[in-house]
Amino acid sequence: MHESHIDPTQPKSVLYRQVVEELRGLLAGERDWIANLANSAALIYHSLPDLNWAGFYLLKDGELVVGPFQGKPACVRIAMGKGVCGTAAVQRKTQVVRDVNQFAGHIACDSASNSEIVVPMIRNGELLGVLDLDSPKLARFDEQDRQGLEQLVSVLLAS
Ligand code: SME
Repeated sequence: MHESHIDPTQPKSVLYRQVVEELRGLLAGERDWIANLANSAALIYHSLPDLNWAGFYLLKDGELVVGPFQGKPACVRIAMGKGVCGTAAVQRKTQVVRDVNQFAGHIACDSASNSEIVVPMIRNGELLGVLDLDSPKLARFDEQDRQGLEQLVSVLLAS
């Protein structure tokens, strides 16, 4: 089994550098997309503090369908444009939501979630899905998280 030694309490700048390195190692030499998504979700969930859900929604036949994740069972299908995930997918832009209760159309999968970040996954101009992280903490995600997670997504997309 793969053992990670990342300390989730470190400053975000250091933490994301380590998680990016760890992800590169985890994905090296493996091209199975589902395997790589699954290990990415597990690494993120166990390395970043204050998360209650981390995983992927994948674009299938025009809607987002839940993919590999860690956390409680989630809504299976999300229409494009709906919720934070559908908004990130349509706008092709990372959504950082300080308080999901203030986000019109937020889809509550786990009532423990209070803030959320969703990063679109785009390869060669094609939208493949989104990376979604939820936190029980209000305003858990900031600009450093956006940059760090976008970098993790780019490492994943290169795998
Ligand atoms: N809250 C998301 C739905 C997915 S769950 O959080 C896992 C949304 O509004 O798109």
